[in-house]
Amino acid sequence: MTGPAQPRPGFPWQRAATGANLLSPDGSLGVTIFEEMTTLALSTGAINLGQGFPDEDGPVEIKEAAQAAIAAGANQYAPGKGILPLREAISVHQQRFYGLAPDPQTEIIVTTGATEAIAASLLALVGPGDEVLTFEPFYDSYGAIIGLSGATHVTAPLLAPDFMPDLAALEAAFSPRTKVVLVNNPHNPTGAVFPREVLQRVVELAERHDAVIITDEVYEHLTFGVQHIPVATLPGAAERTLTISSAGKTFSFTGWKIGWLSGPEHLVAAARTVKQFLSYSSGTPFQAAIALGLGLPDEFYTGIADTLRYKRDILSEGLRAAGLDVLTPQGTYFVNVDTSPLGITDSVELARRLPALVGVAAIPVPVFCHADGAERTRSLLRFAFCKQLYVLEEAAERLATLWDRL
Ligand SMILES: Cc1ncc(COP(=O)(O)O)c(C=O)c1O
Repeated sequence: MTGPAQPRPGFPWQRAATGANLLSPDGSLGVTIFEEMTTLALSTGAINLGQGFPDEDGPVEIKEAAQAAIAAGANQYAPGKGILPLREAISVHQQRFYGLAPDPQTEIIVTTGATEAIAASLLALVGPGDEVLTFEPFYDSYGAIIGLSGATHVTAPLLAPDFMPDLAALEAAFSPRTKVVLVNNPHNPTGAVFPREVLQRVVELAERHDAVIITDEVYEHLTFGVQHIPVATLPGAAERTLTISSAGKTFSFTGWKIGWLSGPEHLVAAARTVKQFLSYSSGTPFQAAIALGLGLPDEFYTGIADTLRYKRDILSEGLRAAGLDVLTPQGTYFVNVDTSPLGITDSVELARRLPALVGVAAIPVPVFCHADGAERTRSLLRFAFCKQLYVLEEAAERLATLWDRL
């Protein structure tokens, strides 16, 4: 007789791919570094600059719009592709900022965060035998979903200090099997914002290999003194590009999980087919509220970027005072440091010690990499600065003492 089925060890995608996103030596615990660091931060009372979520809510009028939508009875399933007012607001937002005009009926769907948009589009487009190309380091869900799809994850490195790709290496990473090139710009975890030349090269290479571009632009409004260029605006891109964004980052409502994707009808329809069976539809009252948020005046958008830039600088000062080499980001709410000036070459080890040493938690960059990339980024540590000013000031003060405590 056989007993009840037992869960197999490790995350499912690690059976299909070589995800390096675990710290547990045998890969059997299923605990991510984010969870480990958050637990460590809680048990030591450390300031948690590990996970990237704001510690303040977004605009009050958006919150009130969600409350009003709940009170008015917007509490049952939304249409699978999202409520029309939000799809219209997404289209108007893209027209206003980028001159794009996706059709709200056929070229936009609302998703349960950008996470679902990534999953739905990859699962719709790739399978065993296909290759998906990303930069490395890469946002952790990419490796997981590519693994679940059965496709092979190929990477092109982003190199410190500015985390720009070597264009020859990028070209070499493409192959006849490249089905999707998955771009993330502005880029997590590095904070890089890619210039036109890099993005145009991606488009040319995708065209040459007839690959689809999926571009994750959730930090589109969080750039500091440089312009965000949506891939879909570049010559030759629109017909092969799915663009993903999310209300979580722009409006500081990460818990609402409202994201979207837009692009040519046939690609959006493919992702929508998968989305039907992932979540079917996404939080109804939040959709109405985000429709309102997307229409906020320009001052809101410039304000969030200016505030974050100031926060970046406050935290960076503390990191520099600690003797760390700060790799200043041009976008996102993450700043990376090189720990080697302190004589520390293993950022995973430092991340584990940091909460007890100075009362701050961070994430080591190697966890966003496969084995080779992990080696390349061994001395890099990522800090989130989407926290209230007094929290960052306290963190900066604590970090400044690191040198003496090592
Ligand atoms: C690059 C990137 N894509 C997607 C997401 C997830 O977005 P959402 O919370 O809307 O699912 C994140 C969140 O950290 C991210 O950094």
